[in-house]
Amino acid sequence: MTPPLTVLLIGAGTRTRKLYAPWLSGLLPYQGRPVRPLAVVDTDLDAARTVAAALPGAVAALPRDLDGLLSGHRPDLVVVATPDDAHRDYVLQALAAGCTTLVEKPLANTRQDAFALARAADVSPARLLVGHNLRFTNVHAHVRALLADGRIGTVTDADFHYTLNSSHARSYFTRWHRARAVSGGLEVTKASHHLDLLTWWLGSQPVAVTGLLERRHYRPGHDNVPADADIHDTLRALIQYSSGTTVHYTLTSNAAAEGYICTLYGTDGVLSIRYDARSGPHTLRLNTRSGDDRRLVGREDGTHAGADLRMLHALPPALTSATGPFATAAEAALSVAAGTAMYDSSRCGRRLPIPQPAISGGTR
Ligand SMILES: NC(=O)c1ccc[n+]([C@@H]2O[C@H](COP(=O)([O-])OP(=O)(O)OC[C@H]3O[C@@H](n4cnc5c(N)ncnc54)[C@H](O)[C@@H]3O)[C@@H](O)[C@H]2O)c1
Repeated sequence: MTPPLTVLLIGAGTRTRKLYAPWLSGLLPYQGRPVRPLAVVDTDLDAARTVAAALPGAVAALPRDLDGLLSGHRPDLVVVATPDDAHRDYVLQALAAGCTTLVEKPLANTRQDAFALARAADVSPARLLVGHNLRFTNVHAHVRALLADGRIGTVTDADFHYTLNSSHARSYFTRWHRARAVSGGLEVTKASHHLDLLTWWLGSQPVAVTGLLERRHYRPGHDNVPADADIHDTLRALIQYSSGTTVHYTLTSNAAAEGYICTLYGTDGVLSIRYDARSGPHTLRLNTRSGDDRRLVGREDGTHAGADLRMLHALPPALTSATGPFATAAEAALSVAAGTAMYDSSRCGRRLPIPQPAISGGTR
């Protein structure tokens, strides 16, 4: 019989309460390798206790206990789901203990930390997986397959426009994300999802960006937005990829509905995706010389349109080998680098190169 996968959680907040804790307590329709929770670590011991209480056998602990837990239990998997600025130290600690680690997106809140993690993952015998869960959504896997099959030839240009609905957007301006020093701004904590999808779909790296970041709606000191909020709510960027593809990226944050429209223009056709983040189905439209094909892709049940459950099922085999669509640390570092370069470009008013993580195997 396969032994259960032992899991240690770091961070007992929303992401853990909505996904990792229900997974470990058997509340999700998860049918993969059995799992066994070991511990929940959080700076807020009450939060850790609340989560641990629902996980049979799990203890609640503070960060100072982490070294002892890692060496004593040698978990098969450490999940890091803290605010973004705390990812780096926990990932380094877990890798140093030889534990395979799943870190939530974004890999880190700064390019320096993201590159440090990519380098650490490159030399560690333990695997580092990054929770870019949108890779696991059925419609996104479908797009990747269509592009990899060359259905629209070589992608030359793309438009990607994400709209945050206003209540979701407002939450970024009231929670920890509002501080650039913690989240890296929406260009990192939110756009990393979309930048990662583009890197994965295009199979190439973002190499230069011209950004224009503005704050148009959620003004610090107004409307319950704390005065220390220093992030932007409207992002525009022109991103160039190593393949020669140019992407117009926009994120706006006062919409009624949440999701995106993306159009990819290729040498042999056009592929459009309409992704509804809150209700389905998603729409794909493929226009090639052989005709126009419009398909509805059913929305799957569960958080993030079924992506989270698929990601959990993909975890056990990915612990030891590079299987499944998990983002590597180097790919995830590149999304952080593209987001921070967007910000730097907006500040200096110039197109900027996007630094690439220096690792032995390249970004793929
Ligand atoms: N993949 C996705 O779709 C998705 C969705 C939501 C959040 N996230 C990511 O998950 C992570 C957690 O986000 P969240 O919404 O759960 O945040 P949250 O604020 O709800 O929870 C964070 C938890 O971490 C704890 N914490 C804060 N600093 C800590 C530290 N230094 N050490 C240990 N614990 C600490 C807090 O006490 C809190 O319990 C973030 O990286 C976020 O970007 C990803």
